[in-house]
Amino acid sequence: MEKIKIFDTTLRDGEQSPGASLEKQDKLEIAKQLKVLGVDAIEAGFPVSSPGDFEAVKLIAQKVRGPIICGLARCMEKDIKAAVGAVKPAQHPRIHVFLATSKIHMKYKLQKAEDEILRLAVWGARLARKFTADVEFSPEDASRSEKEFLYRVVEAVIKAGVTTINIPDTVGYAVPGAYGELIRDIRNNVPNINKAVISVHCHNDLGLAVANSLSAVKNGAGQVECTINGIGERAGNASLEEIVMAINTRKDYFNCMTGINTKELCITSHLVSKLTGVMVPLNKAVVGINAFSHESGIHQDGVLKERGTYEIMRPQDVGFGETRLVMGKHSGRHAFSVRLAKLGYKLTEQQVNKAFEAFKLLADKKKEVFDDDLRAIVDEGSRVASERYKLVSFQVTTGTGVEPEALVRVKEKGSAKEAQATGDGPIDACYKAIEKIAKVKGKLLDYSVRSITSGKDALGDVTIKVVFNKRVVLGRAADTDIVQASVKAYLNAVNKLG
Ligand code: KIV
Ligand code: ZN
Repeated sequence: MEKIKIFDTTLRDGEQSPGASLEKQDKLEIAKQLKVLGVDAIEAGFPVSSPGDFEAVKLIAQKVRGPIICGLARCMEKDIKAAVGAVKPAQHPRIHVFLATSKIHMKYKLQKAEDEILRLAVWGARLARKFTADVEFSPEDASRSEKEFLYRVVEAVIKAGVTTINIPDTVGYAVPGAYGELIRDIRNNVPNINKAVISVHCHNDLGLAVANSLSAVKNGAGQVECTINGIGERAGNASLEEIVMAINTRKDYFNCMTGINTKELCITSHLVSKLTGVMVPLNKAVVGINAFSHESGIHQDGVLKERGTYEIMRPQDVGFGETRLVMGKHSGRHAFSVRLAKLGYKLTEQQVNKAFEAFKLLADKKKEVFDDDLRAIVDEGSRVASERYKLVSFQVTTGTGVEPEALVRVKEKGSAKEAQATGDGPIDACYKAIEKIAKVKGKLLDYSVRSITSGKDALGDVTIKVVFNKRVVLGRAADTDIVQASVKAYLNAVNKLG
């Protein structure tokens, strides 16, 4: 069976998702998990775009062994050199060069004629090839390019040494039949195409990114570019988990496989959502909370009699956990640690002990503790352990006709600090008190609260985005008390300032 290569671009195109922004350490954490997931290539960033992105790509290249580590570059010397510098420490470095080939991009964006584009593409491919044997080339907006011109560009860059040729549907304009046909036509009309792997990269503007990618696989593509949770520019990219599970579930149709350890899909999805602040829709295929919930009585009855009546995938095969209802206050430490391991966590003895303490406190407030609660506990614990300011207590006074007032107490490296402030609301007052303590000034760009599970005793998961002196920082925390979760989320953001 042919193996389809999975090229993950969560850290590059995914990070271009509106609202997503990742710190260097966050990117490294995701890259490490992508390795565990078993992706073939990680597009770690666009090194020329900022010194921060350059450093992040370099760090990943140094620390993540196994998968190909790729850096993106326009067809420009400074881009290619930055990408080379960033991926150089990788065990398997790749440079990904792109240049638009559609009439509309060449005329308006690049203001260059076909011949000039062809010459530039070859020049960029050759330059990248001087530094590394593994070069990918993308004729940007390929799906809207004139086919004859596209064939010429593809043939020329392969001749210049390109080993992967990516056919992006940059604006999500393609439809499955025609996109599959394009891949087939490239295979039939580019004489040296067998010297390169054909890759596909689809955007989701019409909701067709996954369908287009799969149609391309059916027509001979050997690599699929995709992102966790389908995040990416505008409406996003093809979702990795959907592509992989479609290929897996419909082996009979696709007759191919991937190297993905599907049991790691849910935990990877959760990590990316947590670190980017981009929520996973409840009904998201494969990894959404409702993906395996059967609401209708007829369906529930069917599943109880024979799972296959209404389930085409087993939840445990994507790391969903065998059941969502897990434990209560009487559950023991052993069952707790087994559960965490089933959810994909690899924790030290000390981390398990800490998480277990938090679990007992939560189980006192909440009758039933679910998998998602456990994830929140572990995430919270790993974050707070390294934070500079730790919440000790807070008090708020608010009500109709009362000016909201807050008193916040924290510990900074063991010493107690407190401040009082008033604000437009109780959360605003708390945030102002924290700013007094940390001597910072932030502007809240975004605030969202979502319950992790159902019921009035559910944990509230607060995600905020704050700008401090032009630096945008994400803060996140969960608690059964949403004001407390909001306070902890702000401290989390402030703590990231260092
Ligand atoms: O969508 C696109 O065309 C891209 C290229 C840089 C591959 O992201
Ligand atoms: Zn893209």
